[in-house]
Amino acid sequence: MREKFDIVVACDQGRGIGRDNTLPWRISTDLKYFKELTSTSPYAAEGRKNAVIMGRKTWESIPSGFRPLKDRYNLVLTRNPQYALPQGVLKAPSLDEALKLLARGPVDRVFVIGGAEIYRQALIHEKCGLLYLTEVRARFDCDTFFPLNAEQFKGFYRLLSCSEVMQENGLDFCFKVYEFNYPEFLVFESTEPAEEVPNS
Ligand SMILES: NC(=O)c1ccc[n+]([C@@H]2O[C@H](COP(=O)([O-])OP(=O)(O)OC[C@H]3O[C@@H](n4cnc5c(N)ncnc54)[C@H](OP(=O)(O)O)[C@@H]3O)[C@@H](O)[C@H]2O)c1
Repeated sequence: MREKFDIVVACDQGRGIGRDNTLPWRISTDLKYFKELTSTSPYAAEGRKNAVIMGRKTWESIPSGFRPLKDRYNLVLTRNPQYALPQGVLKAPSLDEALKLLARGPVDRVFVIGGAEIYRQALIHEKCGLLYLTEVRARFDCDTFFPLNAEQFKGFYRLLSCSEVMQENGLDFCFKVYEFNYPEFLVFESTEPAEEVPNS
């Protein structure tokens, strides 16, 4: 398994990601992008698969005919040890336990796919790597939000790539990839004034 996990999210201009435990928009190009990104592994021939980690509510938001997500290990985070899941779907009581469990199997990449509660924990995790953001250029009436504002974004993330702007169902959107700017954060942490050495 790779050292870092990545985050995948689609966000509107108000940082909205969901409403009534479902996606507020329908962009099939984004669903295809999500499927391809999270399913593809160069190590498939060696029997490795990618894994997706999601919160219990996000699991429940996936229509029953589409879950578990195909060709990926599905891991659901819940604090309820009695929570029932179909055979083969993994369960963990914390993000760290989830990563430990996945590290024991033939896993390649790990993607944290939401929702807001899980993003909140993943974004400050030391193993957070890339952030795949689908920027939906509109504002929806949402009740669930991505937990980083634009200023925090600029401070902690570096833009690696941005697709052209595409359109579907009258909606403009694009795919961006950010990298967590951890080194800069560490420099910030280590700027304590050095102790003065007295002249001898
Ligand atoms: N736009 C997007 O890209 C995107 C992606 C994903 C989801 N969504 C949307 O986001 C919404 C759901 O997000 P949400 O924030 O309400 O819920 P969520 O993050 O999907 O799930 C929350 C649940 O996860 C479990 N959980 C949270 N932290 C945990 C931890 N540290 N250890 C173990 N379990 C933990 C708890 O389950 P228990 O209560 O069972 O303990 C908690 O109630 C939906 O509207 C969905 O459509 C949008």
